[in-house]
Amino acid sequence: MENRAQVLLRKMVANIYLPHTAFIKKIKEETGDIKTFTLCFKEEELKNKFTFRPGQFVLVSVFNCGEAPFSISSSPEVAGEIQLSIKKAGLLTGEIHSLQEGDEICMRGPYGNGFPLEQLYGKNLLFIGGGIGLAPLRSLIQYVFAKKSDFGRATILYGARTPEDIVFKEDLKDWGKENNADVLITVDRGDSGWKGNTGPVTHLWEKIEISPTNTKAVICGPPIMIPYVIFDLLKMGFTEEEIISTLERNMKCGVGKCGHCTLGSKFACIDGPVFTYNEMKKLPSLI
Ligand code: FES
Repeated sequence: MENRAQVLLRKMVANIYLPHTAFIKKIKEETGDIKTFTLCFKEEELKNKFTFRPGQFVLVSVFNCGEAPFSISSSPEVAGEIQLSIKKAGLLTGEIHSLQEGDEICMRGPYGNGFPLEQLYGKNLLFIGGGIGLAPLRSLIQYVFAKKSDFGRATILYGARTPEDIVFKEDLKDWGKENNADVLITVDRGDSGWKGNTGPVTHLWEKIEISPTNTKAVICGPPIMIPYVIFDLLKMGFTEEEIISTLERNMKCGVGKCGHCTLGSKFACIDGPVFTYNEMKKLPSLI
């Protein structure tokens, strides 16, 4: 005789669209319009069995409002909960931002391929993030620091519009204290109190020594940033296989059925959202 949790798990396997209730354990304000939500599935069994890879996403729904995809911003090494860092940008995200700790939302997933961890083991890693694009990179960076002996040196370059728009400020500070890591931040526009770098994230190249030897570059940021970063990396000698990026697309079903996220013959939701540049350049109208 199946218990309730077993029935739930069976249904989850049977119905790829079935959302599951999660409660908001914690809310952290990152910036004026970005909050990080720590979420736990209500069902104990589901909570314990939920696993994901850095770079994967979930679909979050709020009753009477809608559903949208969000990258997981926490490490899979932290069991029993996940974090989503959500920018307030419309009706659904506005509704999610109005929720309080203890409130419930619905969630399904994880979806997408995630970062190719097996290709990153043993490598130096160059992370280049822009804006809220640091969210999926944070998942990978936390994973890398939790398994330091499996990876080489980590260099993290991050760009935000203004000092107020910098996300994960405490994490950036903590990552900078790691023995095998460098963290550099830049903003497009500083303010009177800003003493750091200004300009696009590509201006940070001159502040660090980068060798493509045994290094993988991992990019996530606004679409306008990605081609400039890739152009420079290729000039530095990175091969097309050593450049990895996530691509934003309008995801709906998350499971390769609706066609909203098509990229030529590929689906961003199941073939991506993570691609090497070698794969990306074969996709239509991207770079
Ligand atoms: S989101 Fe439906 S096919 Fe990708």
